[in-house]
Amino acid sequence: MGDERGSLIAVERSTGLPFEVQRVYFIFGTAAGVTRGLHAHRNLKQWVICVAGSLTLTLDDGQSRVSLELGRPHEAIEIDGLVWREMDNFSSDAVLLVLASRPWEPDDYIRDYAAFAEMAAR
Ligand code: TYD
Repeated sequence: MGDERGSLIAVERSTGLPFEVQRVYFIFGTAAGVTRGLHAHRNLKQWVICVAGSLTLTLDDGQSRVSLELGRPHEAIEIDGLVWREMDNFSSDAVLLVLASRPWEPDDYIRDYAAFAEMAAR
């Protein structure tokens, strides 16, 4: 919905967001060389949008691993189901916006890759 003044992007259920948002967070100011994420969730849907700068998002379902170069604010990546995620290669100006279907629930995290791989294989 941009115009001569600049850009505007809106996200809502009627334009494709498939869940009610219960939490929004954003990651910015990431130091060079840092890898974030390194976990999976038991029960969480997310849309991740790189609204500024760029970064690499790697997704792994236990069978295969794909790395996506994010840097387009009009593009959202949906993460649903049992998926291990890692983010790295952050540009200094990168801002990653995350819309999540659940509040922050520490017990929902799987932080051990071997445990994740075992669950994914079931
Ligand atoms: P962390 O899970 O390490 O972030 P990432 O997976 O992106 O590397 O979270 C960093 C800190 O922020 C940690 O103390 C937990 C806290 N946190 C919240 O309080 N609420 C949230 O929604 C998120 C994502 C993290």
